Amino acid sequence: MSTITYETVHHQHDVVVVGAGGSGLRACLGLAEAGLKTACVTKVFPTRSHTVAAQGGMSAALANMGEDDWRWHMYDTVKGSDWLGDQEAISFMCKEAPSAVIELEHYGVPFSRTAEGKIYQRAFGGMTTHFGQGQAQRTCAAADRTGHAILHTLYQQSIRQKAEFFIEYFALDLIMEDGVCRGVLAWCLETGQLHAFWANQVILATGGYGRAYFSATSAHTCTGDGNAMVLRAGLPLQDMEFVQFHPTGIYGSGCLITEGARGEGGFLTNADGERFMERYAPNAKDLASRDVVSRSMTMEIRAGRGVGNDGDHIFLHLEHLGPDILADRLPGISETARIFAGVDVTKAPIPVIPTVHYNMGGIPTNIHGECMGNAAGDDLALVPGLMAIGEAGCVSVHGANRLGSNSLLDLIVFGRASARQAAKIASGKPLPARGERALFEASIARLDRLRHAKGDSSTALVRLKMQRAMQSNCAVFRNEHVLSEGVQEIEDTLEMFADLRTADRSMIWNTDLVEALELDNLLAQSKITVHSALARKESRGAHARDDFPDRDDQNWLHHTNGRLVDGRVALSYRPVVLETGTHEVESIPPKARVY
Ligand code: FUM
Repeated sequence: MSTITYETVHHQHDVVVVGAGGSGLRACLGLAEAGLKTACVTKVFPTRSHTVAAQGGMSAALANMGEDDWRWHMYDTVKGSDWLGDQEAISFMCKEAPSAVIELEHYGVPFSRTAEGKIYQRAFGGMTTHFGQGQAQRTCAAADRTGHAILHTLYQQSIRQKAEFFIEYFALDLIMEDGVCRGVLAWCLETGQLHAFWANQVILATGGYGRAYFSATSAHTCTGDGNAMVLRAGLPLQDMEFVQFHPTGIYGSGCLITEGARGEGGFLTNADGERFMERYAPNAKDLASRDVVSRSMTMEIRAGRGVGNDGDHIFLHLEHLGPDILADRLPGISETARIFAGVDVTKAPIPVIPTVHYNMGGIPTNIHGECMGNAAGDDLALVPGLMAIGEAGCVSVHGANRLGSNSLLDLIVFGRASARQAAKIASGKPLPARGERALFEASIARLDRLRHAKGDSSTALVRLKMQRAMQSNCAVFRNEHVLSEGVQEIEDTLEMFADLRTADRSMIWNTDLVEALELDNLLAQSKITVHSALARKESRGAHARDDFPDRDDQNWLHHTNGRLVDGRVALSYRPVVLETGTHEVESIPPKARVY
């Protein structure tokens, strides 16, 4: 430990939200509207959070473009999850979806419009009518920049409601006392000071950990910092073996080409020019769920029918849609394809490949966002003071595979639900007292150790080793051999990390240290991911085992919970919730707003 004392600035709030993406901002807004003293601690400027990259839209059975029903949406989501989704949470989400969208519209989200002025809705994979009979148009879109539109609106509304923002603060650890979450320790990158945020409730909205992989649609900031904080507190992460590959990342750069492109009529071809999805999914074709399309593309490439010099990717065609539709509905990806693939989408196909996109797993919660699973190993016990939402959370609405456009919905529905619940818990309570420094001394020691690390391995090198291992050994298809190799590779990478070298010893905008902390976070999650995948001996959703090709409901209709105990992975299991009525679904009608 250095001689620097790390003097700490203290704050007291009713609720602290960590993360300012779609779910974090929706929670902040709800809390601030309820009159609670609310802090939002975020490592990036709110409108640069990764939600800004969400393109295609947000699902809700509004029936603006044809008949629809929330029950059909629920059926699709349960089926899409390969039956691993908790049906109570799914029914809650699908029922709340229409009011959540209308509320966003009233807040000011500039959705695209139909000729009659209704919110425009496009087709997305796995979204059907009449329980699988027809193709639904359920995904509410603001062109192909829906996340961008939502994020800006929620940030502006949160400021209007006087939520306090602590921007470019890197959250280091939860402050836990006797199993209760008392707050969060964070590092202000601008001043270099540490800040202890004491709160009656902490809500983690820190997103996924896509950057554990070499090629991902996720921003470089997607390092699952909240997930890792939970692991360090001895708490579990759930279903981490389920990592979604989006079928259409641009070959080479990994940039996302929205599924909305296929929703508007785009299609995939192999080296023979064949629309091969007709063989794999004769009904849904290119709009089958993502796990199905990603596996089909991988099988075409493996069978020698990939395109390009190395036969290692697939073509996505949009040329036939015509310049007007492309300019009106898909302007963002037209630009992305031009910049990152050198393709004019009005004239040529885009080279694409399945690319890591989303983590179905995360911090287990109930439908109110309250964290479940304590450090004593009880998977059903609530953790007082702690909540999690968005991609960081695992309320399990996505199970083993998420349907496209159910993520923005999850962010908004559970961001709103967590605000309601946190307000119920925190309202009327006095502001929390400041705790002792001893509660976060270990976190300061970790920061100091990494800041002064004098080993032989650079962060970049260790990160690359981890990303390559995850990309090769925990990919679309897995088996015992490659996963066991992956477990060993991650162990070797952790050994390298123990011999880390950082160069910058300052505290002000020390990006060297930020990257080391993020890598530490990613490694812990990678370790849980490969162990959980090795242990699950079946194929389900995004977890496709060559050696166990069938779904096994007899033995595996269970969620995996993974904890780190003395540096080792401890796995436990709890049954999937197959009932819908354990909790009353509270459907709140949108408030009429006049500005
Ligand atoms: O393809 C997309 O626009 C991504 C949407 C999603 O992941 O929900």
